[in-house]
Amino acid sequence: MGLKEQIDLERLPQHIAVIMDGNGRWAKSKGKLRVFGHKNGVIAVRDTVEGAVEIGVPYLTVYAFSTENWNRPKYEVNALMELLVSTINKETKTLMENGVRLNAIGDLKQLPSACLKQLNQAIEKTKDNKRCILTLALSYSSRWEIVEASRQLAKDVKEGILQPEEINESTFISKLTTADMPDPELMIRTSGECRISNYLLWQLAYAELYFTTTLWPDFRRDDLFAAIIDYQKRERRFGKISEQLN
Ligand code: IPE
Ligand code: IPE
Ligand code: MG
Repeated sequence: MGLKEQIDLERLPQHIAVIMDGNGRWAKSKGKLRVFGHKNGVIAVRDTVEGAVEIGVPYLTVYAFSTENWNRPKYEVNALMELLVSTINKETKTLMENGVRLNAIGDLKQLPSACLKQLNQAIEKTKDNKRCILTLALSYSSRWEIVEASRQLAKDVKEGILQPEEINESTFISKLTTADMPDPELMIRTSGECRISNYLLWQLAYAELYFTTTLWPDFRRDDLFAAIIDYQKRERRFGKISEQLN
């Protein structure tokens, strides 16, 4: 039986978050420059998105560029931004064919204008697609997001739209970049690093974490299926005891 057939489609995670890591090491292991790894990472994104669509995962959020990644050498940042523009341009067709709606979260105004323009065009073009929402976390960090949310709440209070007593989990969530999405139930990180790296800290509160040593450019839909199978074997207790479940 293939991996796909082992998945219980009734108990799919509705939202999967991915930290696509290991592009640089993948390239280095082949004696190539880091950018070669990033380019091959695009193939992995395509296959993973198609895999998610194939089984019916409605939300997929991928960490493409963190706030901290701006501190990388300038040539790598530039190469990543150029790759982003060309990828979005080329892949819009695949998104349309697969019924995928593109979305982006992060401090997008930091992106070069050509990037932002391409991104907004693809978001607009795919806006009526219904099978899966693919969110790119770009110039994103969770601490940035939480500070932004706090600032917006403070502004609402100052303007009298909100009372301090009305600040609760749901008003807070409404200010997050993921306000319209369910929390990720599964978080996958490739490349063997076992950390969160400032990704969706609030939203991952009860996510099942899955770490694999596979480097991102080698990741394919079967790796996604393997992660889901692992997820489906776990007991999610949310603070309760086993006997209380079901
Ligand atoms: C992930 O791969 C892609 C980005 C962070 C943009 P890396 O570039 O972090 O590759 P490694 O972790 O150095 O191998
Ligand atoms: C996290 O990977 C960010 C992305 C995958 C876009 P990094 O490679 O930047 O994270 P650290 O530095 O290993 O924590
Ligand atoms: Mg890395």
